[in-house]
Amino acid sequence: MPFRKTGATLLATLLATGALAQDYPTGPVTIVVPFAAGGPTDTVTRLIAEPMSAALGQQIVVQNVAGAGGTLAATQVANAQPDGYTILMHHIGMSTAPALYDDLAYDPTESFETIGLVTIVPMTMIARRDFEPDTFEELVDYVTANPDSVTYANAGIGAASHLCGLLFMDAIGVDVLTVPYQGTGPAMTDLLGGQVDFMCDQTTNTTGQIKGGEVKAYAVTTPERLESLPDLPTTAEAGLPDFQVGVWHGLYAPAGTPEEVVATLSAALQTALEDENVVTRFAELGTAPVPLDQATPEAHARYLQEQIDLWGEVIASAGAGD
Ligand code: MLT
Repeated sequence: MPFRKTGATLLATLLATGALAQDYPTGPVTIVVPFAAGGPTDTVTRLIAEPMSAALGQQIVVQNVAGAGGTLAATQVANAQPDGYTILMHHIGMSTAPALYDDLAYDPTESFETIGLVTIVPMTMIARRDFEPDTFEELVDYVTANPDSVTYANAGIGAASHLCGLLFMDAIGVDVLTVPYQGTGPAMTDLLGGQVDFMCDQTTNTTGQIKGGEVKAYAVTTPERLESLPDLPTTAEAGLPDFQVGVWHGLYAPAGTPEEVVATLSAALQTALEDENVVTRFAELGTAPVPLDQATPEAHARYLQEQIDLWGEVIASAGAGD
């Protein structure tokens, strides 16, 4: 048997016996982010990475692996060693991918161990500053009247920006040209440059530009207005009460990661969610850490299944999963 095989067998034995798990972590932990640097998923990850690193007593390396709406990174982590040294930050895309991809190389509930939920981020419908519509109602009318000339940015099929666009276009009965990016970080760059017309993106990426008047903002996808953006109407106020979406985020380890390792990671996550800087910065960006009882492996697993069931139905009814 080649060494590599025996090496892997030895590692699996050590992990199974818990010998390695008891000392975990003895080296840096990588958190894979499934979208380009500078976007909302990257922002959330880098904010919790510092206090998680302090809690674990080891460096955390944030690695951006963009592509295919986040499914490339999820596949990579699903196939990583189940030793706790490679984990994944992912969002609502973990629950929409099964309905959007026929050939998904992983199963969200079988290929991972859930570590805990992190935060649920509101979305904002925004446009380049000189886009003609000034209100959400005018946006609906303009997009409806010009479906072949407006461009919508998203981060690929399965991304939150894709899902939000799907809900919006299904609500108004119009399909427009979609421009895919490796993340809404680079999409924002093009929006600010006027290369693309509008986008639905998370407040963790849009709050600064909205407050700075660098983009037009039409609505936020929450039931109530946000304290961080009090002048921004909700989609309900704008006439589309059913057009609501919150981008939930969670941490995952490869299936087979020892329970003690998952518990250590979940404890470090919960410490990070109570960190003053995380709480303050999340609030400034329109979001908040989840309650700690949601940052457990069990609560995350339940929520993931509920979301897979929910979005599977929504996507099927929007006819997007065909
Ligand atoms: C990002 O981090 O780029 C976004 O989460 C992409 C998306 O899901 O729209």
